[in-house]
Amino acid sequence: MAQDKNNIRLTDKQSIPRVVAAMTAAEKVSLVTGMGLKIEGLPPGLLPPGDPKDDDIPEKVPGAAGRTHAIPRLGIPTIILSDGPAGIRINPYRNSDSTKPYFATGFPVATLLASSWDTALVTQIGKAMGKEALEYGIDVILGPGMNLQRNPLGGRNFEYYSEDPLLTGHMAAAMVRGVQSTGVGTSIKHFAANNQEFNRMQLNTIVSQRALRELYLRGFQLAVKHGQPWTVMSSYNKINGVYTSENPVLLKRILRDEWKFKGTVITDWFGGTNPAQQLNAWNNLLMPGFYAQSQALLGALQDGSLSAQTLDANVAAILQLVVQSPVFKKYKYSDKPDLSASAAIVRRAAAESMVLLKNDSALPITAPGKIALFGVTSYKLIAGGTGSGDVNKAYVTDLDKAMLQGGYVLDAGLQTEYGRYITEKTAQLPKSPSLFSTPPPIPEQQPDSEAISRLAKYMDVAIITIGRNAGEGSDRNIENDFLLREDERTMLKVISEAFHANNKKVVVVLNIGGVIETASWRQYADAILLAWQPGQEGGSSIADVISGNINPSGRLAASFPMQYTDVPSSAGFPGKELPGGSNNGNPMMGKPSEVQYTEDIYVGYRGYTTNNIATAFPFGYGLSYTNFTYSRPRVTSAPGVAPIRVAVTVTNSGNRPGREVVQLYVSAPAIKQGRPVRELKAFAKTGILPPGGKETVQLTLGMSDLAWFDEARMAWVVTPGTYKLEIGANAEMVITSTEYKIGKEMMLEKNLAAL
Ligand code: GLC
Repeated sequence: MAQDKNNIRLTDKQSIPRVVAAMTAAEKVSLVTGMGLKIEGLPPGLLPPGDPKDDDIPEKVPGAAGRTHAIPRLGIPTIILSDGPAGIRINPYRNSDSTKPYFATGFPVATLLASSWDTALVTQIGKAMGKEALEYGIDVILGPGMNLQRNPLGGRNFEYYSEDPLLTGHMAAAMVRGVQSTGVGTSIKHFAANNQEFNRMQLNTIVSQRALRELYLRGFQLAVKHGQPWTVMSSYNKINGVYTSENPVLLKRILRDEWKFKGTVITDWFGGTNPAQQLNAWNNLLMPGFYAQSQALLGALQDGSLSAQTLDANVAAILQLVVQSPVFKKYKYSDKPDLSASAAIVRRAAAESMVLLKNDSALPITAPGKIALFGVTSYKLIAGGTGSGDVNKAYVTDLDKAMLQGGYVLDAGLQTEYGRYITEKTAQLPKSPSLFSTPPPIPEQQPDSEAISRLAKYMDVAIITIGRNAGEGSDRNIENDFLLREDERTMLKVISEAFHANNKKVVVVLNIGGVIETASWRQYADAILLAWQPGQEGGSSIADVISGNINPSGRLAASFPMQYTDVPSSAGFPGKELPGGSNNGNPMMGKPSEVQYTEDIYVGYRGYTTNNIATAFPFGYGLSYTNFTYSRPRVTSAPGVAPIRVAVTVTNSGNRPGREVVQLYVSAPAIKQGRPVRELKAFAKTGILPPGGKETVQLTLGMSDLAWFDEARMAWVVTPGTYKLEIGANAEMVITSTEYKIGKEMMLEKNLAAL
């Protein structure tokens, strides 16, 4: 229906060109820059000020990370963008009214979800999270975070999925599909090669084209293809000298032309330095937006460094996001999401994702066993990491409470003593930590050998939890972080010796957000359960696994090395500051730095298996309370025809119901440029198999899964020869395999863009 000039309004996608044509330059500039951001607890002057006229517009969702400008005369509403990957992060209270809370669910962190190897489960989590966003009036969730876990010390690894791009990409796509099925958008982040926190805003990542294509871009490519996220968030860093948010090769040539991304690109908060160049690169929305930015854009229009056409194209890309949003569709949100429904999903999902690393006849423990529960984190669970990936949740279920609810008998004296100690130590922690600070750990109490000897006599089992936390803004340390602290080592040793002297078992629970060293202390434990950071129902999830209510079926999404120096990227991590650099007086900005990805494509298991470096626990590893056997894999598709279909039958050969993760690795013929011994190229998780139960799993490979990236030709190439299709118990142990032959070289895509 034609609209007369005066009352042109945004009604749908088709109306966008008319609306853009009716906008003034000032309105267009206001649309491509957000309404600014204030972070409580940050000293003044750290963040560039927003436009003063935005200050007195009341926030629809206080605490949400960002909002866009409305243009009421054209029917363009403000859209709300909120963190984060583990749940909605908004202020828990408004106008200091403590009678009406605005809590959200603390979901399991991404690295735990990836350990499920279960895309259906992750989609279900996404759906629950999307529903909460919808009911709080949020239009886009700033997640999933999906940068590769290049190094165990990466400060935000808890927010990311894996060291492998295929697992990363499919997990992110599953999350995107789940959230967006509720009508709320997502933002896959941080695009790209942002694999550390050290000086992230002024860091130059120096990386080869092959490592970019096969690892650092690959996950995002899969997430775009299988998820179609509404938005992509460009990262803070540079790649090979150019800010990602200012790089048209990344954001237009690769993301849009090659991958056919149809959505909107937003910056990370205060990312990049040149607003006009960001729009020229098709980074459509500059978040959170600040006054100097919009002034610079008006100037750029004048001096020609930003053309009217380019501005219009970016505005159109944002309006495309607006017309999909719940607020544009006038969704009546309740401010009352169904948090108890989410809690039930969280409890089961976390338990199904946990990884049983060791079990010498110690687990499961049937109630009402008498448990001696040790470790601060047994009584103060770490549900998730810190920074923008944190969530203001109503509660966290600790392990002691969950064990009591599960009918176990705990030593009351221990519980009282830990309660007293934790209260005392918590009171000494910094009062109002800023968003970017991780609270220091509470040290373990020096064990009282006499008391422990007595407990070892009368209790059935010792359970000890080791906790770790980290978050945005800084990376982790080797000492007292990747490595155990002395107080932890002493605690493990004393308890283990006492309980083993009485032929009692010791179970260690790892409530951590990133990989730690395990080889030097695992002999103290009869069982090790990797719980990661399991979300607000975490204690109950751990208890469900300990009791056997849930048979653990998680597998490692990241390798646990024997020692830090074995990590392929350890020598150069996290890079170095450039001489004479400055943060312009703003510590948030960091200083100009660079990091060289010298290990190239040999990240994680790709490095360990190819260089024959043994790990403590390999990628893909995980035990069950039952056992599984496999048939030989069969290629069921015709030779040389894509997709390549592989069938394999799994049998539960044990005596408890359980689920198996089927991992298909490809070991390709050697090339002179070198390639990893094997790479994960497909996976699937069975349903719950009863003892003796079987399931035939169908796996699919595309020709692209056999390809490598040839920098010389900037092309994806399939080399002729014999490919081994391997079913692995993990990246280091092949159970069974079959062969697949490629007769002649194939070039799948060529003349691709270089970054
Ligand atoms: C942060 C993070 C990003 C987050 C955004 C909004 O600095 O890098 O992940 O979504 O800013 O809080």
